[in-house]
Amino acid sequence: MKVLIVGSGGREHAIAASVAKSARVDKIYCAPGNAGIGQLAECVPIGAMEFDKLVAFAKEQEIDLTIVGMDDPLVGGLVDEMEAAGLRVFGPRKNAAILEGSKAFSKDLMKKYHIPTAAYENFDDAGAALAYLEHAKMPVVLKADGLALGKGVLICQTLEEAKEGVKTIMEDKKFGEAGNRMVIEEFMTGREVSVLSFVDGKTIRIMSSAQDHKRALDGDKGLNTGGMGTFSPSPFYTEEVDAFCHKYIYQATVDAMAAEGRPFKGVIFFGLMLTQDGPRVLEYNARFGDPEAQVVLPRMKNDMIEVVEACIDGTLEQVDLQFEDNAAVCVVLASEGYPVSYEKGFPISGLEQFDGKEGYYCFHAGTKQTQQGIVTNGGRVLGITAKGADLKEARANAYRATEWVAFANKYMRNDIGKAIDEI
Ligand code: AMP
Ligand code: GLY
Repeated sequence: MKVLIVGSGGREHAIAASVAKSARVDKIYCAPGNAGIGQLAECVPIGAMEFDKLVAFAKEQEIDLTIVGMDDPLVGGLVDEMEAAGLRVFGPRKNAAILEGSKAFSKDLMKKYHIPTAAYENFDDAGAALAYLEHAKMPVVLKADGLALGKGVLICQTLEEAKEGVKTIMEDKKFGEAGNRMVIEEFMTGREVSVLSFVDGKTIRIMSSAQDHKRALDGDKGLNTGGMGTFSPSPFYTEEVDAFCHKYIYQATVDAMAAEGRPFKGVIFFGLMLTQDGPRVLEYNARFGDPEAQVVLPRMKNDMIEVVEACIDGTLEQVDLQFEDNAAVCVVLASEGYPVSYEKGFPISGLEQFDGKEGYYCFHAGTKQTQQGIVTNGGRVLGITAKGADLKEARANAYRATEWVAFANKYMRNDIGKAIDEI
C-alpha cells in the first residue's frame, strides 16, 4: 500500500520509521518532510496547511492511507476534507481535534464529565479576567485558548505578573487569535507524565508512558521549548496511577467526546500531572507528542498500519497493543540559542554512524538536504534516540550516540532522563 504522512518534524520521522517496518507498505510519501524522512520516504513539497494540494496529491497518487502528524492541519479540518474526497485518513475530524484546539472546550468537557483536572474559569474579555484575578490564589496559570506552538501558557507568581499576562494574551495578542479567549486555572504541583493512546471512537488503547523535558537548560531552567528530550517509560507512572487513569480519565474522555457527538478517532495525548491528590489532566493533544513519539514508537511491537487501520475501522477492541520490556531515551540536538534566535544552514557530519546500528535512531527535525549535503534548518535539529535494558542504560547509550554527529552551534541538555537517578 501507499502511505502519505503529513508533517515535517522528528515526530513524523518516527511515524515514518514505524510505518516503514510494516510488510504491507510499498511506498511512503511525506508532505513536506525533511532530509531524514527523505531517506525512508519521497518528500513532496506541499505544506501541511495546503489542504487542496494535499487532497489532489493523494487522489492523483492513489494513496491508500494518510496519517496526519501535526496539530494545525488536524485542528483546521484536513481529515474532514480528505474524507469528503473519499480518501482514507488517520486522525481526528475537526469537531474532535477541538480537544486540543480549544483549551476552554477541553476544560468544560472535563468539568461536565467529572474528569479530574485543575479548577478553572474561562474568559472572553480581559476586564472580567482581571476582576477574577483580584481574588485568585497565586501562583495562577493563564492559558491562551487556541494553538500557540505550546507557548501559550503563563505561570504567574504574583497578581502583577498575572495582570501583565492577561494583557499579553488578550490585549497585545502575543499568541494571535489563540488569545481571543483564555483559561485561568489553579496552579498544581507534581511530576508530569505524557500518555499517548490510540482511539477508534469508542475503544482506547494506552501506549507506554513517557516524560518530556520542556525547558531549554539543564535542571529544568530557562525558557519553555517544544521539548528538549524524552524518556519512556516513566518510572513514576506506576500501576496505581495507571489504574486510576483507566478508571477516571481515559475511557471517560473517549465516552465524553462520543456523547458530545464528536467521536474521536486518532491519537489522544494525555498530559498528566501526578499531584498529591492523584493524577490530573493538564492538557489534551490530538496527536502524537514530539519528542514523545521518538521514544514510544520505537518500543511498540505492533504493526503500526494494523493499529491505525483498526482505529479508522472501529475495530481497536481486537488489538492487543504491546511494548518492548525495555526503555528508550531521546536527546534533542538543538541549535545554540533555541528557542529565541539561532543560526542555521550548518553542515551536519556523522549521520552515517547510525546506519545498521540496532536500537539507535537519529530522527531529523530541522534539517534540509542541499547539494553540499544535509544542513541544520531549525531550532531543534535532531532527536537522538537509543534503547537500553532499562532507563539508565538507554540514557548512557543515547548520550554516547549524541557524540557521533557534529554541527556548528550544536546544543543539548545533559540531564535528559536524570530524574531516573533520583529514585
Ligand atoms: P499545557 O500546554 O497546558 O500542557 O501547559 C504547558 C506546561 O505548563 C505544562 O506541561 C506544565 O508544565 C505547565 N502547566 C500547565 N498547566 C498547569 C497547572 N495548572 N499547574 C501547574 N503547571 C501547569
Ligand atoms: N512534547 C509535547 C508536545 O508534543 O506537545
